[in-house]
Amino acid sequence: MADTLYDFGMIGLGVMGSNLLLNMADHGFKVIGYDKNPDKTNTLESSATKGTIVKGVNTLPEMIAQLQKPRKLMMLVPAGNPVDSVIAELIPLLEEGDIIIDGGNSHYIDTLKRIGFLKEKKLHFMGIGISGGEQGARLGPSIMPGGDIEAYKEVEPILKAVAAKVNLPAGQAGDQPCVAYLGNDAAGHYVKMVHNGIEYALMQLISECYDVLHNGLGLDNDELHKVFAAWNNGEMKSFLLEITADIFLKKDDKSDNSLVDMILDKAGAKGTGKWTSEAALDLPEPIPTIDMAVMMRNISALKEERIQANNLYHPELKRINVLKKDLIQQLHDALLFATIVSYAQGLAMLSKASTELKMDIPLPEVIRVWSGGCIIRSALLNLFGKAFQKNPQLQNLLLDEEIAKLLKSKQENLTSIVTTALSNDYPVSGLSASLNYFNAYCREKLPTNLIQAQRDYFGSHTYERIDLPGIFHTDWQQDEKTVDHPSGY
Ligand code: 6PG
Repeated sequence: MADTLYDFGMIGLGVMGSNLLLNMADHGFKVIGYDKNPDKTNTLESSATKGTIVKGVNTLPEMIAQLQKPRKLMMLVPAGNPVDSVIAELIPLLEEGDIIIDGGNSHYIDTLKRIGFLKEKKLHFMGIGISGGEQGARLGPSIMPGGDIEAYKEVEPILKAVAAKVNLPAGQAGDQPCVAYLGNDAAGHYVKMVHNGIEYALMQLISECYDVLHNGLGLDNDELHKVFAAWNNGEMKSFLLEITADIFLKKDDKSDNSLVDMILDKAGAKGTGKWTSEAALDLPEPIPTIDMAVMMRNISALKEERIQANNLYHPELKRINVLKKDLIQQLHDALLFATIVSYAQGLAMLSKASTELKMDIPLPEVIRVWSGGCIIRSALLNLFGKAFQKNPQLQNLLLDEEIAKLLKSKQENLTSIVTTALSNDYPVSGLSASLNYFNAYCREKLPTNLIQAQRDYFGSHTYERIDLPGIFHTDWQQDEKTVDHPSGY
């Protein structure tokens, strides 16, 4: 097939790259993959479905010469320097109008710089977030593209073909691909970063429920499987609950225990959760459940210190004295509440970033793209979709009336769980951060007037009043003399 021109090229044939390419081929596209390692290119070709057109090559010029113009190629290589090295190799081989896609989890600021740099060379560069892991890549991932709309239009048919498909609720067209144009510049990588921040939060919340169920109630792995499977059969149905239920069934092949009990309690992190927290601080937009999830992974990494502290303080894993059935129901409601709050924080962050960073992120589309194929897919996305349908400008999910009704019905159980867990010495940072966020967000008046008074007292930082316009400063150590400074402070 020497004269074939290929529709799409992939740089980096790790499992994600190969699977995505094979997925494209299954949808009728002619694809070519590049990897230096001949084993990888051979595996790619031998894994192709019979009758599909898939080729592997071991040099970049070979691949570039065989691509349809404008060339469309994606790299799936580790974030950071490897992305820049590939770009440097590609530049002399490409022509005006060609499209380079970074499908990895790159930092959005890096993506912004690369877009600018490649624009000068008349090349399109797109940051596209891809979620769903290895299986998702092969069978249908959730795809979050952003950047140059012209370039997006060129790759849209391929992305739509390979993306996960979801059936939307009655009244809307069914079988929608989980991909949409999600905004300017680095919006694709920004949305994927926030997706991962929510992913961190949801995983942390589930792990807190596991702790209370396992250590507080004494449930064994079979019972844990049943609880999470039951939760996954209800309104919280989600990919993460589904895999959690599965995990408790897995036996270890190196011991007589369940595998989950043999896994060291140190969570890894590749950085996207931390980036979400950093970017939220920069906006600023409060996302405390996500922050706590990042922080708990960091605490988990301090294994040696935790052992020392454990030996010093001898904390007890106390049995919680609440009826099993009641505690499980309370935990269910607490998890549901905190899960909604986690999405609310992430989506509020996207809403703020959309304006502040001029990315024009269409939130209803983000929700649709997240409703299938990705790690945070959940039945709850339907509810969020409805909220944004009613009000596409919704600043925070908590301001939707239907969601408010649901949260109000679960609030008491979240409060009970946080109180019970804390009084029994269980760390529930994610659940309590969600409750504190909610309690603060829903208060018209916070005690922050005092902070303003303190700032003005020690640093003349000024304050606003509740009864008069303008900016005020008080000389706090002189008897109640208030000086009006309309400007300049
Ligand atoms: C996805 C995942 C994927 C990856 C995470 C893991 O959407 O498919 O988010 O991108 O599994 O980046 O992140 P950590 O290693 O930081 O947990």
